Amino acid sequence: MGFSRDPGGRALLGGVPLEPLLGRAPTPFYAYDLDGVAGRARRLAEGFGARDHRIFYAIKANSAGPLLARLRDEGLGVDVVSGGELRLCLRLGFLPERIIFSGVGKSDAELDLALGAGPEGIGALQAESVEELGRVEARARALGRTARVSLRLNPDVEAGAHAHIATGHDEAKFGIPFRDLDAALDEVARRPALRLGGLATHIGSQMTSIAPYERAAERLCEAARRWLDRGFGLDFLDFGGGYGVDYGGGCEAEPADFARAALGALDRAGLGRLRAHCEPGRALVAPEGALVTRVVQVKRWRHPETAGWLFTDAGMHTLLRPALYGARHRIEALGAPPGRGPEAAWRLAGPVCESSDEFGTYRLPDPPPEALVVRDAGAYGYTMASLYNGHGLPSEVFLEGGRVRSVRRALDAEAWAEERAKL
Ligand code: LLP
Repeated sequence: MGFSRDPGGRALLGGVPLEPLLGRAPTPFYAYDLDGVAGRARRLAEGFGARDHRIFYAIKANSAGPLLARLRDEGLGVDVVSGGELRLCLRLGFLPERIIFSGVGKSDAELDLALGAGPEGIGALQAESVEELGRVEARARALGRTARVSLRLNPDVEAGAHAHIATGHDEAKFGIPFRDLDAALDEVARRPALRLGGLATHIGSQMTSIAPYERAAERLCEAARRWLDRGFGLDFLDFGGGYGVDYGGGCEAEPADFARAALGALDRAGLGRLRAHCEPGRALVAPEGALVTRVVQVKRWRHPETAGWLFTDAGMHTLLRPALYGARHRIEALGAPPGRGPEAAWRLAGPVCESSDEFGTYRLPDPPPEALVVRDAGAYGYTMASLYNGHGLPSEVFLEGGRVRSVRRALDAEAWAEERAKL
């Protein structure tokens, strides 16, 4: 359902009016519609139809407990990238089997945690280099276990995403380059404490079309063939995440289209009996989240193009994407839709002492509204928030069944000061 406006112009998320929440949660706060998130997970699953598949939600996009619990109840697994994320998912009762662990620099302590979870360790440790395989095996032997691994391959496909989030090119820090595939397969074959469950790829984030994903999927199938032709078995192919969302500029592909593309690649390669895995983060959560922030200061600027600055209590410490990637979110007055009443072009910025702490220039009411809503902020918002400048972290409001389920108060400036004052 995501963000909408009622006939009176009030901003809604999942059908719940956002403005009254100003009285219930300190700003800045994120609000998430859990029903909307569950709905997106179901629509993605429908893309796989009756075919054997597993969805591993990449929790780096949004790791809030209530949201993870809801996705767990929907039957999803999780993709984690740290010991902290792994502990969180184990605490929330995800079966180790339904957890995969990606990332280029896993520590020994993280490997041990993953290998030691449950009777057989987690579902797959995704190796990102040939060298990592030796380390994983050494840890497995030390624990007297067999390590279930997959190889994250780099198919050398450009996803066309922003350079900071494109990962599929050959020199990227992520994944095993395709030219090293045989070396990686040799390495697995000669290490008896490794069990290769599947091969994986992930070429980047915020892909708005299917073509690069399809090319990567085809290369993944080609790699699988090479392993199978050696007489070994495989359970799955993991086609990664990266499904784009509409931040206002459009997005031609739906998550279910990516699912169908993956199945199509499997079928064309004659590998239809393998289970299809995917690792979406953003597409399940971004449109189901909104960031609400108060305007705390106006600075009029006798400038030819803009009316001046609006300073909000949200900034790069709350939502880093604009400062880090030049990302642009739709930002509107909370109380009224765009185009109602007099407007001016305002530069929006946060309170952080960095020039890059700016959201961009937006047409917004003049005089300025009390509060703004940043749309599509459910992914990579809270999880990338920081304590820089001692502002504390944003609070979070969870919506479910058309009402407020819970409010999570942030680690605020007071708690931050107490923590840092410890000698
Ligand atoms: N799998 C792997 C191995 C990944 O590295 C990622 C994201 C995902 C899955 C999930 O990708 P998604 O479906 O969310 O696109 N902070 C950036 C995005 C960084 C993505 C990092 N890896 C942003 O705010 O746009």
